[in-house]
Amino acid sequence: MRKKIVAGNWKMNMDYNEGLSLFSEVINMVKDEVTGSQQAVVCSPFIHLHSLTHLAKGYAKVAVGAQNAHQAESGAYTGEISARMINSVGAEYVILGHSERRQYFGEDNALLAKKTDTALANGLKPIFCIGETLDERNAEKHFDVIKSQLAEGVFHLDEAHFSKLVIAYEPVWAIGTGVTASSAQAQEIHAFIRQEIAAKYGQPVADGITILYGGSCNPKNAPELFAQPDIDGGLIGGASLKSRDFVDIVKVFN
Ligand code: 13P
Repeated sequence: MRKKIVAGNWKMNMDYNEGLSLFSEVINMVKDEVTGSQQAVVCSPFIHLHSLTHLAKGYAKVAVGAQNAHQAESGAYTGEISARMINSVGAEYVILGHSERRQYFGEDNALLAKKTDTALANGLKPIFCIGETLDERNAEKHFDVIKSQLAEGVFHLDEAHFSKLVIAYEPVWAIGTGVTASSAQAQEIHAFIRQEIAAKYGQPVADGITILYGGSCNPKNAPELFAQPDIDGGLIGGASLKSRDFVDIVKVFN
């Protein structure tokens, strides 16, 4: 059985105290209401990470992640945060390759391959995001885009390292738009991603990789999306900022 994960991506929201309150609510609800073996992951801004990992101690069902990490081990990169720093405060995951990083900060597949290496070398589990834009889908290039994001971003890894990844499929046209991919559209791409992984690393590796769907996921549409055979959970933006909505999505796997 593949691990089921519902990860919240707070993006650049929540000041320090708001974030701590939200996270405390999430922990309490997960403790009281989650009965399955799924994991809730909260990816907060850097400033919350240390406090969140402290609050999450002892709750195996809740883990913490960052939303980005630098590709270098350390050095003169003013304002940046390293993978080692993230690991040192007890965070387990890091989102890499989010479309907002690709779009607004010019992160390309080559850079993301380096970031993935550095994150893995420092004990973090990357949640590696891929997904096509609306123009790419309308031009029927979505399979090609996914294929090259995988090939150039993560297929240089050996099997042991690759197996530590979580992949997140986030069609850019579904992020923050209220337009969700239909469960059939999402399943089609997830199956394709798993097939590409199988072709590169073999079926057992492909069968073990958790692949999340992200893009306007909410408590209403999550049950149908998560019922698809190749969808192993979600990467949740807006709905992760409300404890009730986020935990209701986590509970789809109860
Ligand atoms: P929304 O759930 O707000 O569409 O955001 C999805 C996302 O980008 C998660 O990383």
